Parts: sequence; structure tokens; C-alpha cells
Amino acid sequence: MLLDVKGLDVRYGRTHAVKAVDLSVGEGEIVTVLGANGAGKTSLLRALQGAVRPASGTITYDGKELSGSSPASRVSAGMMLVPEGRQIFVSMTVHENLQMGVYLRSDRDVSRDLDAVYDRFPNLAERRDMKASVLSGGEQQMLAIGRALVGRPRLIMLDEPSLGLSPLFVSRLFDLIVELNKSGISILLVEQNTTMALDVAARGYVLELGKVVIEDSAEALSKNAALTEAYLGGGHENSATLFTGTDA
Ligand SMILES: Nc1ncnc2c1ncn2[C@@H]1O[C@H](COP(=O)(O)OP(=O)(O)OP(=O)(O)O)[C@@H](O)[C@H]1O
Ligand SMILES: [Mg+2]
Repeated sequence: MLLDVKGLDVRYGRTHAVKAVDLSVGEGEIVTVLGANGAGKTSLLRALQGAVRPASGTITYDGKELSGSSPASRVSAGMMLVPEGRQIFVSMTVHENLQMGVYLRSDRDVSRDLDAVYDRFPNLAERRDMKASVLSGGEQQMLAIGRALVGRPRLIMLDEPSLGLSPLFVSRLFDLIVELNKSGISILLVEQNTTMALDVAARGYVLELGKVVIEDSAEALSKNAALTEAYLGGGHENSATLFTGTDA
């Protein structure tokens, strides 16, 4: 396994956000984590990123236990988070945003990686010297992913990348996820768009109130949509669209 999480707990004071989570991502795999608002998805990713110190449990990446290792050293090892809400710098240019993805790189071969991102995303190339604030939501998501790509990830962790995107961009985004995976990048995909996520993933976990309540192949989870939906439901704004599918 590229990533192996055992018994992970995240607490914020009295809030127990992630409870004894076991989860793994194999080399070359796409794994999805599904869960309603507040289920603990972002807390899990922030613990993996190293931004939040787990209360207990172990995170093993590429055979090494990560406890105590900084977010920067995890990035250097190829673990990239594409955070919830993109977190791009809107007052900076597209190019400056992409350069943020390489500031931890010690080698000099950065321009080739930037060029590869521009080749992949022509919209970003056309706007490289414009402020990121001019980008559409979909383009901002591409920028957030591009920023991760210039750091040469082995594992990309995406936190609700489809949120707020138009159906066209959602479908492009999931095509991109499959493409990146085919190029050898392992993917941990946190989503509330269950249909699309299960379509691209090999396996999935359903989180409820911080706990893994279901773990199965994506195929089995798709077939058992009613059960999955029961855990994700509870008045979630998108729940009506989750299983009716999109036009994508
Ligand atoms: N910094 C924090 N301090 C205190 N409590 C927090 C903090 N961050 C999250 N929580 C709480 O932890 C729980 C899990 O939150 P988290 O953001 O991980 O869920 P999520 O699944 O990502 O939700 P969403 O779908 O809304 O992004 C929630 O009860 C939330 O209120
Ligand atoms: Mg979240």
C-alpha cells in the first residue's frame, strides 16, 4: 500500500472529528471517501497532510511512518493536498499561483513541470499573467490541481473538487482525475458527488460522524446506493442529485 492509515483519531477539544479510521490507498489506485457535511472528511485529509496532529493512530506512506513529519516534508515526498474550496491566491497571477507548488522543490527542473501544466490546461496558459480572480470556478479548480501537479505528486488528495462546479466542469474534472491516475498518480478523492466518485474509484469508504461505516468496492457501493445514500442523506443540499445522476 502507498498509504496505510490505522486507528486514526482527530480531536478538536471535545469534538471527536475522526474516530479510529483505518484506510488505505494502493499504488496506482483511486479511492474515494464519501460522507455528509461534518462527517470528518476534511479533518482526515488535514491529518494526512500533517496540518492537524492526530490524537492517536498511525499514517504510513511509502513504507514510512509519518508521525511528527512536517507538511513540507510530506509534500516533498509527493503527498499533495488539493484543499477544500481550492485555496488559490486570487490577488496573485495564475503563474505565481503555480509557482507556489514548486517552492519546496530543491531541483532546478521546475520550468518543464510548469510547461507541462500549461500544456494540460490551455486556459491557464492563456491567462498566466492575469490575476487568478478572473478565472471561473472550474478554471480555479484546474489551477489548484495544476499547483499540486508541478510538485510531482505520487498521491493527490482532493477535497470535494467538484463542489460548486457546473456539470460540464464536473465531467471534465472527473476525466482529468482518471487521466492523472493513468499517468501513475494514486488518488484519494473526498466527494459528496457519490455517483461520479464511485464511477472513477476502485474502492470507497463511507464516513459518518467520523467513523467508517461502510468500506467496499466502488461497484458494490454503487449497487448498494440506497444504503450509501442513507448515510449521506439527512438533508444534504445535493442529496437529491446524488443518485439521480447528472447529464455529464
Ligand atoms: N478547526 C476546528 N475546530 C473545531 N471543530 C472543528 C474544526 N474543524 C472541523 N471541526 C468539526 O469537526 C467535525 C468534522 O468536520 P470536517 O470539516 O472534517 O467535516 P467534513 O466531512 O469535511 O464536512 P464538509 O462536507 O462540510 O466539508 C465537524 O463537527 C466540525 O464542526
Ligand atoms: Mg470538508
